[in-house]
Amino acid sequence: MTADEQHQQLLAKLEPFGQQHVLQFWEELSPGERDELADQVAALDLALIDALHRGEVDQPDWGELSRRAEPPAVVRLAEQVGGSVSESHAAAARQRGEQALAAGEVGVLLTAGGQGSRLGFDLPKSMYPIGPISQASLLEIHVAKVRALAKRYGKAIPLYLMTSPATHADTVRFIEENQRFGLAESDLFVFCQGTMPAVDIQSGKLLLGKKHRLFQSPDGHGGTVAALAASGALEDMRRRGIQSLFYLQVDNPLVPIGDPELLGYHLLAESELTSVAVAKQTPEDKLGVFAKIDGQMHVIEYSDLPDEIAELRDAHGELKIWAGSIAVHVFATKLFERVQTQADSLPQHIARKLVPHLGPSGTLVSPTEPNALKFEKFIFDLLPKATNPVVVELAEEACFGPLKNAPGAEKDTAEYVQQMMLAQHRRWLEAAGARLAPGVKVEISPSFALDAVGVAERIEPGQTFETSQFLSGD
Ligand code: UTP
Repeated sequence: MTADEQHQQLLAKLEPFGQQHVLQFWEELSPGERDELADQVAALDLALIDALHRGEVDQPDWGELSRRAEPPAVVRLAEQVGGSVSESHAAAARQRGEQALAAGEVGVLLTAGGQGSRLGFDLPKSMYPIGPISQASLLEIHVAKVRALAKRYGKAIPLYLMTSPATHADTVRFIEENQRFGLAESDLFVFCQGTMPAVDIQSGKLLLGKKHRLFQSPDGHGGTVAALAASGALEDMRRRGIQSLFYLQVDNPLVPIGDPELLGYHLLAESELTSVAVAKQTPEDKLGVFAKIDGQMHVIEYSDLPDEIAELRDAHGELKIWAGSIAVHVFATKLFERVQTQADSLPQHIARKLVPHLGPSGTLVSPTEPNALKFEKFIFDLLPKATNPVVVELAEEACFGPLKNAPGAEKDTAEYVQQMMLAQHRRWLEAAGARLAPGVKVEISPSFALDAVGVAERIEPGQTFETSQFLSGD
């Protein structure tokens, strides 16, 4: 095709939607740059973008829906550690989960496509050296847990790692430089999620990041659904007989990956989607919340939950809508299979953002007010589609320390996450009868022990730690 023909073809797609400005620098572009732009335009669903901008795609009125929100049934912490009946349920769950792990039916799905804009770290968040003593990266810690879990149950556990165009190249290089952190090649499946463009709030016009490139962002963690199928990951799961996927996001090193009890609650309930909740401490906690609305399970984002609903209390003075989502789930693989056949399996969320972009003269425009609409899908929107959704409460200190913010913020900074890791490891050691001198920090590698039980197997009661150290089993 000649450059002219290519230009005509692109115009024919763009003009009906008034987006021909995307080609305004065409004459200045090299053949390679023209191809890049052409590929981006070819992948666009302009009718959808147009409808989203015009407000023609129904957006749920969460303010209204929240008024009908009821707390869902949750497997509460107290039930898991409580009386004999519940103890037997917890034990049965643990046994069922262990059975699935030993049968090789469990995989791990880790999303690492986000841009980590709040953290202000130049590289993908997965590369952040979070280990308080080891300086191990977030990715290394997650992989070490997967390996330790596979070793414990004597069966390979495949890791499906999702990147995005924003993080893919650096992540793949990091993995190669570190020999996959010891994971077998056949047990690591890296796949890349899609992107969505941003449009000007007023005009709906697509924004350019460069003369030959649209401004595009990862399409949200809900992009996992399409990317799993498009990449062949679902096919790989089918081939390996993976029936349950333990899902987590890369920024939280406290996740008890593959926790057998959680898997067991999921499997015993024949659930397609089981999620972890932690109890919100205050109405202002910035966590999405689980809620039943008109009989269906949802997560309502914290920004969508009206204050007066967040503040409601039950007869015991506890928050009524209390169950906060920490983005840890167990999915039945068949749920991902099933929703592939549904055209709009997940809704688009629309956010108003500040997006620097190229102006008509080709110079960078840096807005000071939100100027753009961005579109993202969220994985938790699969909840209303799932059969028998289950929510299981865990203690926050056992599972939730997300790295979100740059130093100086009140919560979710590297320092905050490291304190949580060290506190957890101290609890495990002390429960095993070890003594730590005041101020001593001990970091435990997943290769040394995965949890309190694992620590108790390796530590002598009375063992003392006089100096800060990293306990590794490698
Ligand atoms: P967040 O929405 O917190 O985004 O995603 P983020 O990239 O960590 O940080 P900010 O908001 O830009 O500061 C939560 C998790 O979901 C993954 C991220 O990698 C993160 O682990 N995610 C998010 C994706 O994999 N893809 C996306 O498109 C968005």
